[in-house]
Amino acid sequence: MQTMGDIKITKATTSKMSSVDFKNLGFGKHFTDHMLVAEYRNGIWGLPEILPYGPICFDPSLATIHYGQSIFEGIKAYRLKSGTEAVFRPYDNFKRFNRSASRMEMPEVPEEIFIGGMKRLLQVDAAWIPEEYDHSLYIRPFMFATDEIIGVNPSASYKFMIILSPVGPYYAAPMRIYVEEQFVRAVPGGVGYAKTAGNYAASLHPAAVAKQRGYDQILWTDAHAHKYVQECGTMNVFFVIGDVIVTPGLDSGTILEGVTRDSVIAVARDLGKTVEEREISIDELVDAYKAGTLTEAFGAGTAATIAKIAELRYKDFVMNFDPSSMHLADQLKSILTSIRDGNAPDPRGWMLSIQG
Ligand code: COI
Repeated sequence: MQTMGDIKITKATTSKMSSVDFKNLGFGKHFTDHMLVAEYRNGIWGLPEILPYGPICFDPSLATIHYGQSIFEGIKAYRLKSGTEAVFRPYDNFKRFNRSASRMEMPEVPEEIFIGGMKRLLQVDAAWIPEEYDHSLYIRPFMFATDEIIGVNPSASYKFMIILSPVGPYYAAPMRIYVEEQFVRAVPGGVGYAKTAGNYAASLHPAAVAKQRGYDQILWTDAHAHKYVQECGTMNVFFVIGDVIVTPGLDSGTILEGVTRDSVIAVARDLGKTVEEREISIDELVDAYKAGTLTEAFGAGTAATIAKIAELRYKDFVMNFDPSSMHLADQLKSILTSIRDGNAPDPRGWMLSIQG
């Protein structure tokens, strides 16, 4: 297998960086000067290459466009207070990427390409890592089928790429969420746990309907009874009921195994909190709300970090939360932010330096 030294680098002749307003980044609108590309053919991965960021050309019969063999990840790089740069838990995303690959009958990507290629690309575009609070360089590794054929088969060739985008927070304000009872995100045995493009495509119409009703996102429920909550838009979801933090468990295979979800659970347990990963029915949430014990509701994801829920609507019942009194959400976000910015110890070695 190739090593990082084997990565061929072609530098962009000019940088776009000065044309980007780092004070108004939004999410996913700007891309750095370079991208990484590796091709899989005849059962082997070729050497990755770093090229100037730009369009890619493909045949209209490209398998991905027709049958959706496409997976991706979302990871973030931060500038630490020491001035060095590091990535948050990339090995967890690497492992999840290959679990998604396996479910979609795609080849696994070797560590040397995924992690080694990512580090090399970050070294080339390190100047793009923002410094502002709640800002980061979003890393988007993705892989898609590149066979040019319209038969329904797993593709024999694939492209793996990484692009980078300097970003601010995904949800700028606390969210209004609608509990979805008609449309379904995932079923047991399906692809809910995989980070595959189709899961996001299928969410767009239900999310658009929720938006027409004045909501920012959907809280998905289970496919059979529409009774148990699953995940929320582009995030995992957490509730604080009494002294306990609850989040849907992963057993059904219908929920994305979020890296931020796992980090929130770990940090909350470090704080001595009880965290339960289990089935949560919407009736339980409504009852707890009526009893005054449901005090916090928030989403957790790489893009979203920790995003508070200000309103949760189930049928005609509206649950309102006061974002300013969500002390646990604030505390968890502050601890995770401090680890990512290098202002707090990192006992689990979550931050991977982009150097070396
Ligand atoms: C992430 O949190 O990284 C995601 O993948 C969500 C994304 C679809 C914006």
